[in-house]
Amino acid sequence: MGKMSLKVKLGKLELSSPLISASGTFGFGEELRGLADFKAIGAITTKTLTLSPRKGNPPPRIYETEQGVVNSIGLENPGVDVFIKDKLPLIRKLPTKCLVSVGGFSREEYQECLTKLDKQKGVDGFEVNLSCPNLRLKKLVSQSAQATYKLTKALRKATRKTLIVKITPEVTDVAEVAKAAERAGADGIALVNTFFSMAINIDTKKPYLGNIYGGYSGRAIKPMSLYRVWKVAGSVRIPVIGGGGIETAQDVIEFILAGATAVSLGTINLVEPNAAAKILKGIKSYLTRKKIKDIKSLRGGLIV
Ligand SMILES: Cc1cc2nc3c(=O)[nH]c(=O)nc-3n(C[C@H](O)[C@H](O)[C@H](O)COP(=O)(O)O)c2cc1C
Repeated sequence: MGKMSLKVKLGKLELSSPLISASGTFGFGEELRGLADFKAIGAITTKTLTLSPRKGNPPPRIYETEQGVVNSIGLENPGVDVFIKDKLPLIRKLPTKCLVSVGGFSREEYQECLTKLDKQKGVDGFEVNLSCPNLRLKKLVSQSAQATYKLTKALRKATRKTLIVKITPEVTDVAEVAKAAERAGADGIALVNTFFSMAINIDTKKPYLGNIYGGYSGRAIKPMSLYRVWKVAGSVRIPVIGGGGIETAQDVIEFILAGATAVSLGTINLVEPNAAAKILKGIKSYLTRKKIKDIKSLRGGLIV
C-alpha cells in the first residue's frame, strides 16, 4: 500500500492530522511540551480568550463522575493582549497549527478580539465559542439560530482566516443553528460544547460546584455528541469538527463515519496528555486493515 494520507482541510487551513485538541483542555500548548507528541495533533485549540483577563468562577470548579467531568471554569484566561505577548511566541514554535478560541459578552468584544488576533503570525484560524455554559447568561448565543447568524456574519468581516463556530448541544434542533452559521459564512462547525449539569452534596445540601452548575464532558456524553454530529454533518456542506467523549481510535472512526471532517479530544487530555499519539496509531492500523489510503474517503461512510 502506498503512502497513507491523514490530511484534512478546514476552510483554507490544511491539517496534517484530523485530531484537534479541544479548547480548555490543552492550555496554550506550552504546558504540554514534553508530555504530548504535537506531530500527532493537526491543531491545538487555545483556551477561550476574552478581551480582558478573567479570573473565572469560584472554586470548586471540577466535579468528577464515573464517566465524565462537570466543570465550571468560567473562562479563566489572561486576555488577548497577554496571549499575544506571552503565549503566542511559544505556540509559533510548536510543530502543529493553532486555532485561537475567542469568547465574549458582546458583538463588539468578539470583533475586537478577532481584529487584534487576525494580524498575528501563528494564529492559523479561529474557533468562536458561542456555547460556554458557565457564564450565568440567560441564553447562549448558539441557542438561537438568528443570534448565531448575526454574530457569525459580523465576525466573518473581521477575518479571512479559517473561522469555526463552536455551538452548544443544548437546543431542540442543533442542525438549524449550524445551518445559520454556515449561511453567515463560517468555514466549519465545532460541536459539541458541554451539556448543562450539576451535582449536590446531600450532607451539606449544597452544590458541589462554586458556580452551582457547570458543563458535562467526557466518555458519558459520547452517544449524545455522536448523534448531534451526525445530524449536523448531514445538514451542512462545510466541515464539522466532531467531539464530545472521544477516548479511542474507534471513537474517532465513529465520528468520521457520522460525517465529521476532524475531531476534537477534550477531557481525555486531562487524564492522558499524549492520547492523540495513541489514538492516531489506532486510526492508522484501522485504515491499513481496511485498505483505506485517504482518511477523507471514510467521511460520512455510515451505512443506514
Ligand atoms: C476543564 C474544561 C475546560 C473547558 N474550557 C473550554 C473553553 O474555554 N472553551 C470552549 O469552547 N470549550 C471548553 N471546554 C469544552 C471542551 O472544549 C469540549 O468541547 C467538551 O469538553 C466536550 O469534549 P470532551 O468530552 O472530549 O471533553 C472545556 C472542557 C473542560 C473539561
